Amino acid sequence: MTAIEVASISKTFTKKLTHKVRALNEVSFSVPQGNVFGFIGPNGAGKSTTIKILMGLLRPDTGSTSFYGQDSRLPAARAKVGYLAENPSYYDYLTPRELLGFVAHYFDVPADRRDARVEEVLGVIELTHAADRPIRSLSKGMVQRIGLGQTLVHDPDLYILDEPMSGLDPLGRALVADIIQQLKSRGKTVFFSTHIIHDVERVCDDVALLLNGSLQFCGAVKSVIDESFNSYEVVLRVSGGAVPDLPEGICAAREGDTWRLSIPREELNPLLASLSRNNELLSVEPERRTLEHIFVDLIKSAGTAQGR
Ligand SMILES: Nc1ncnc2c1ncn2[C@@H]1O[C@H](COP(=O)(O)OP(=O)(O)O)[C@@H](O)[C@H]1O
Ligand SMILES: [Mg+2]
Repeated sequence: MTAIEVASISKTFTKKLTHKVRALNEVSFSVPQGNVFGFIGPNGAGKSTTIKILMGLLRPDTGSTSFYGQDSRLPAARAKVGYLAENPSYYDYLTPRELLGFVAHYFDVPADRRDARVEEVLGVIELTHAADRPIRSLSKGMVQRIGLGQTLVHDPDLYILDEPMSGLDPLGRALVADIIQQLKSRGKTVFFSTHIIHDVERVCDDVALLLNGSLQFCGAVKSVIDESFNSYEVVLRVSGGAVPDLPEGICAAREGDTWRLSIPREELNPLLASLSRNNELLSVEPERRTLEHIFVDLIKSAGTAQGR
């Protein structure tokens, strides 16, 4: 079942009456139920605009969005969603316990279960110790955790989180990653935006990259990492202290009889034939890059393509 469907949405903002900013350009993707989906892109790429359109806070110029097959602008469709806005602000004279109680009431958690649910969520976001202090006296990281907490209160099936890890220290980020993983293990769907690619690598099934309002890539994290490599590491044993016959430009490191070569992907096949004729081939492995490297290269080449 498809939890989120984004079909060809475009959005142009007008600034100062005449200046137009094309924030989204025919963006389409879908998120299956049970998936943890990372929505990445540099600042200004259009992530928050997409999320605001999904939540019915902005209207797209063209295209449509749905949750579980229902127009996502309908209140009934959004009732199944836990939403964390990009820069949320809360009634900061309330305490976390009061705010979560208010959210529970607002989302129709039955009155006899509300208090227990609020305590449970305070435990999950590790804020029980500060539950009765006014929000205005709490640290930025604590407030960010309240933001995540208010998405959990009504136990929705779908979570849409705009930069849930921003402003958190490594411990706070690990807690958020942990909560996302727990949601996944309960079959929930989590869609979150971030510009921190490492966070995607550790929790996401799928990832989409947005650049200047256009979707550059959408697919499984594992397949991006498995497929996006440019070279192989080849390990050879060369007997009798000989030097293997290598074309110019191939990086090679020697430890005794063993040679480690880095061979460009397109040159592997012809070279392997000649290398294996005279030497013992010990291993051939793709030199995989981290998701971060892959995306930084993509972003750079897109920048170059636009002459920037
Ligand atoms: N309300 C608005 N009015 C004018 N321009 C906007 C508005 N909201 C966003 N933009 C512009 O749209 C582009 C995408 O912004 P945004 O979706 O916030 O990016 P991201 O969340 O990826 O950082 C940016 O160029 C931003 O300046
Ligand atoms: Mg944003």
